[in-house]
This record gives sequence, C-alpha cells and structure tokens, in this order.
Amino acid sequence: MTFDTPISRAGSHCVKWDMLEPLYGFKADEGLAMWVADMEFKPPQVVQDSLQKMLDHGVYGYFGDDTAYLAAIRWWMQTRHGWEVQPDWIFTTHGLVNGTALCVQSYTQPGDAVVLMTPVYHAFARVIKAAGRSVTECPLTLKDGLAQVDTADWEKYLTGKERMFILCSPHNPGGRVWTGEELRQIADFCVKHDLILVSDEIHHDLVYPGQKHTVMALAAPQIADRLVMMTATTKTFNIAGAHIGNVIIADPALRKTFAGTINAMGISPNSFGMHMATAAYSPEGAAWVDALMRYLDGNRKLFDEGIAKIPGLRSTPLEATYLAWVDFSGTGMAPEEFIERVEKQAKIATNHGSAFGTGGESFLRFNLACPRAQVVEAVSRLERAFADLQ
Ligand SMILES: Cc1ncc(COP(=O)(O)O)c(C=O)c1O
Repeated sequence: MTFDTPISRAGSHCVKWDMLEPLYGFKADEGLAMWVADMEFKPPQVVQDSLQKMLDHGVYGYFGDDTAYLAAIRWWMQTRHGWEVQPDWIFTTHGLVNGTALCVQSYTQPGDAVVLMTPVYHAFARVIKAAGRSVTECPLTLKDGLAQVDTADWEKYLTGKERMFILCSPHNPGGRVWTGEELRQIADFCVKHDLILVSDEIHHDLVYPGQKHTVMALAAPQIADRLVMMTATTKTFNIAGAHIGNVIIADPALRKTFAGTINAMGISPNSFGMHMATAAYSPEGAAWVDALMRYLDGNRKLFDEGIAKIPGLRSTPLEATYLAWVDFSGTGMAPEEFIERVEKQAKIATNHGSAFGTGGESFLRFNLACPRAQVVEAVSRLERAFADLQ
C-alpha cells in the first residue's frame, strides 16, 4: 500500500478533476485540484475485494439483510471510539448531506432557524435554506489561529426561531477536535435554548496523532433525548461516491420521527455502499486508516512548513481532517486578489472561505489528501504566485 502513487482521475466523472475547467478555467493536466473533500487514494483492498465479489456475482438487485452491516458499525464505534451503539438506533441514508436534510425535515418546520457555528461545512446552510428554514450563524472565535467555542457570545445572535443546532465534530474547516468541555458547553447551550443537536462526526476517524476525538453522545449523555449522531465510512475510506451514511439515534421518540421521514421519502439502501461500508469497518480497514493518518500527518507538516515561509499566509494547525485552512489576511489583499493569484497564476483549485459562512472570508481551503509530490508542487506554485511578498 503506497499513498505516493499518483492516480489520474481525469475523465473518470469525478467532480474534483472533471469540473475544473468549467468552474476554475484550467485543465486537469495543467492545474491542481485541491478543493472537493475526497482523496486521491484507492480505498483499502478489503473494500476493493467487496466490490469485486459483487462484480463476479454480476446480479445487482435490491439489498437485504443488514445484520453484517450493523455488526460492522457496532464493532467500529466500539473499538475505534469507545461508543456502544445498538443496532436499532442506526438508520442508513444516502450520505450525510442527505442525513442533514432528513434531520431538517424531521425536526424543524418551514420558517424555523437552525444554528451553525461558522465558518462551517457549506452544504449545511445550502440544505437548510433550500428547505425554507433560515440559518442563525454563531461565529467561532479565534485564539492563536485556532477556532474556539464561546457559547456565551452566541446568545446575542439568537432570534427565537431556532429549533436545531448542527455541530461539525471534528470541525470542517479548520480541523479542530473539540474538547469534552467544549462539547458540554454546546450541549448546555442546546438544552438552554431547547434545540435538537445534530452532531455530524463524518471526520471522526481522520484525527492526527496526539489528538482524541470525543463522541458527542459520550461527552454529554444527559442530552440523549435531543441528540442525533451522524457518522459515515465515506470520508474515512474515500468512498464518497457510494453515497452512504449513518444517522444514529438513541432516543425512541426522535427515532420514530426520523423513521417517518425516511419512509415518507422512500429511502432504502444502496447495495454497493452497504457492501463497501461493511468491508471497510474491519481490522484491515482499521490498519489502512492508521497508515493513512501517518501519511497525511507528513503531508500537513510539509504543507505548513512551506506556507509558513510565505509572508502573509498562515496555515491553521490541523488537529483532524486533511483540509488545510489557510488565512491570507496577512497579505493585506482583498479575496479577489489572493483568489486570482491562487487560481489564475498558481492554477490551484481550492474552496473559497466565504462559502463556509461568516469568518471564512480571508481563507482558502486546500485538500492535502493527495500524493506528497502534489503537496510539494502546490507549495512551490504558491511561493511563485506570492513571490513579490518575499
Ligand atoms: C462535515 C461534513 N458533512 C458531510 C459531508 C458530506 O457528506 P456526504 O458525502 O456523505 O453527503 C462532508 C464533506 O466534506 C463534510 O465535511
């Protein structure tokens, strides 16, 4: 297993490379795609084998019997996160954006508001607004460049319409691994304002050495009656195209409501995703993730060292995720100017910080889940694009 091997994805109908030209104006062979949050790596062999078995069999009918799938999830949550999950708590959705949308439908009404701590994963706001609900932004505060939770500061943003809080844990962007204390503050805030708490923990396996992710359900067991957990294999194992995720609900009343929405929407499992996810949550999958995180740790160190040498740029020290969050405010440039340099001169496709909500305006997000040579190339392109600041 080597993460150094480049794999050309152009022409494979992947959004990250095949939409470069229409969206960023440069071709896959001249630019670097460092935007969409998927990785340039093949998943573990055990996942490939599960698909091969399906291909060899060759009949692709409806999925049934989720016993092995549920057992795999329970094993993973127990062994990797110390969290005991019951099989009947688990719902399977078509990914976690879908899971988020189903939660919005289940627990809020049109006209209600949903709290987001910004800057945060952009699809949350998109699905909330598309469902006729509004977003209440509670900005994260920065201390030494790291995002911090300050629930006392958030009171002033509330309008009285809030019914739900969506937490991203670990956080995207910025890669914070929230402490137990921060998670309890958020739980208390939700109790105080009577909010359903949806905890999106899709990045929970992508945590760097020395950091420990705490499952919200364990940090604040007293709020089980208002807590909806979301997890997935897709970020961890780079199988996002399988569009599969889990919504895990311990509380029977919340579960009943969610089951009603799933039924009303006619959602049933994608067979490919079920097979791949079952295979991934295994000892082979676990060994692969451990190797992946060692590799990504090397990438983030190299990237941060390179960025630190460019005056005015600051890379947020990641505690989790492969999504570097770079602050350009020290250049004194307006977003149009630093984006023009990164996209037109360096030809690197990134996610614009403004898409993540208030507080993201001076940032760009770079995806570092690629062969190390691409990280080296990105840093040297950025050095050239900002050479006049040296
Ligand atoms: C916090 C978060 N939730 C959900 C997703 C996407 O989930 P899915 O592909 O399962 O819809 C992402 C993708 O980057 C993410 O960062």
